[in-house]
Amino acid sequence: FQVLEDHKPAYHFQPKHHWINDPNAPMYYKGLYHLFYQHNPKGSVWGNIVWAHSVSKDLINWTPLDPAIEPTKPFDKFGCWSGSATILTDNKPIILYTGMTKEKPEPGYQVQNYAIPENYSDPYLTKWIKPDSNPIIKPTKENVSAFRDPTTAWKINDQWEMTIGSKVDMLGISYLYRSKDFINWTLVDHPLHQKENEGMWECPDFYPVSTKGEKGLDTTVIDGDIKHVFKVSLDLTKYDYYTIGKYDTKQDKYIPDKGMVDSWAGLRYDWGNFYASKTFFDPVKKRRIIWGWANESSTEDENVKKGWAGILLIPRTVWLDPSGKQLLQWPVVELETLRHKNVQLTDKELKKGDIVEVAGINVAQVDVDVLFKFSNLDKAEEYNTEWDKTFPPEMLAKNICQVMGTTQQGGLGPFGLLALTSKDFKEYTPIFFRIFKTPNTKHKVLMCSDAMPSTLNLNEYRPSYGGFVDVDTTENKISLRSLIDHSVVESFAAGGKTVMTSRVYPTLAIGDKAHLHVFNNGTEIVIVERLDAWSMTKPKMN
Ligand code: FRU
Repeated sequence: FQVLEDHKPAYHFQPKHHWINDPNAPMYYKGLYHLFYQHNPKGSVWGNIVWAHSVSKDLINWTPLDPAIEPTKPFDKFGCWSGSATILTDNKPIILYTGMTKEKPEPGYQVQNYAIPENYSDPYLTKWIKPDSNPIIKPTKENVSAFRDPTTAWKINDQWEMTIGSKVDMLGISYLYRSKDFINWTLVDHPLHQKENEGMWECPDFYPVSTKGEKGLDTTVIDGDIKHVFKVSLDLTKYDYYTIGKYDTKQDKYIPDKGMVDSWAGLRYDWGNFYASKTFFDPVKKRRIIWGWANESSTEDENVKKGWAGILLIPRTVWLDPSGKQLLQWPVVELETLRHKNVQLTDKELKKGDIVEVAGINVAQVDVDVLFKFSNLDKAEEYNTEWDKTFPPEMLAKNICQVMGTTQQGGLGPFGLLALTSKDFKEYTPIFFRIFKTPNTKHKVLMCSDAMPSTLNLNEYRPSYGGFVDVDTTENKISLRSLIDHSVVESFAAGGKTVMTSRVYPTLAIGDKAHLHVFNNGTEIVIVERLDAWSMTKPKMN
């Protein structure tokens, strides 16, 4: 088989070739970051899943090791699916993962297993043992094929607890399990959380965030100046949505805060291509880091031809916004070590229709950080309240991006970046803002990342993604950082308030044929107060 390189990202995590999906059991151990992931060692479609394993000193350069967990035993013969690591007392990591015991759904199909390092003094944790006492948790009658993805455990009343994703009919459930020794688990009589009309809850994640700053917390912190985050990956819609709330330790239940939208119309880590995310606590830099998977949006045939499919997005530090109403995310600082050649713009005025090229560096593999400024909000276009009635809430921002695009001129906006642009503008991926006036005089900021014009290959899935940015517009400024990497455009608005990832496959704007621009297509002048673009060095990537 061959590997087609045209669209292969340079600095996003990926195996050397073949398929990748969920990140599994990220952790730090004895000087190394460990990352496991769902991998097909035989091809670039989903199947034959093993736990591939890589290690890194800096979260950016990765060395591959042998797979840590492979399907060999009756309790995982048909697949080693997602799971998490917990660091037990005496700094001993343990993995919980889902094993497939049968080829087709029937009783006992999805079970939970554990694996432990063969040698704790090996910082690479090269070999993992799957004791024969597995499986340690079996499904009940109702959930033979919907019972998976155990989380990192936490401690309460001297016992370990963790949660497993499931469903009963359309009820999304996160079952709660309790154990004294991490081996013998009992089902708690109520779930950690549940919600109707959701379908299967895949890859739940449950962790504390500080209300007093950006520092991350270990999962074992269950009270103090904290809130809890509960995230699920919805099989039905392929959204990772989260709520912020309280872990009520008396009732042993998670309760979302008042005002949180606990459904797929709720908050998302990323409003684009992002799924099956998992966080972990980094004890070195005292931060919580999130890993998420971006599937290809090219066709399966193309993935087979390419010889590779899937990437992980840049690991992001995640913390609570001071408002307590959402999370903030920012690429880990280590990414900046890849910044190479730099070009800048300062105080560049953009009138309606202006497109200014950012040239002189490799813009197919670039980190761009830009601050836009405008004089006031008076001329912002009116928000059309009909949209609230016509579009379902979970599609609202996306649908406005789709109907308005970059061509419909507004007052303030559309303005932003044109990534991966071909010379003649036959292909371009715009990442942009539109600012709306609303009847209650507050302003609404919309962010879009639009794959529609990204390629002449109309077989590709080319969604226009959108999300609102809950930002204080009185400062008349908004920032945008985009990590552009051949077929990935991963963008952070307003310091990480809204994040959006597009996968795109240009036919012309490839490698050194790609261009980068800033643009404005609104009636009001927008000033690029500062733009920095750095071409990125290719790290050691598996
Ligand atoms: C999410 C998921 C998990 C499962 C794994 C299998 O993408 O479906 O629920 O454990 O992938 O690869």
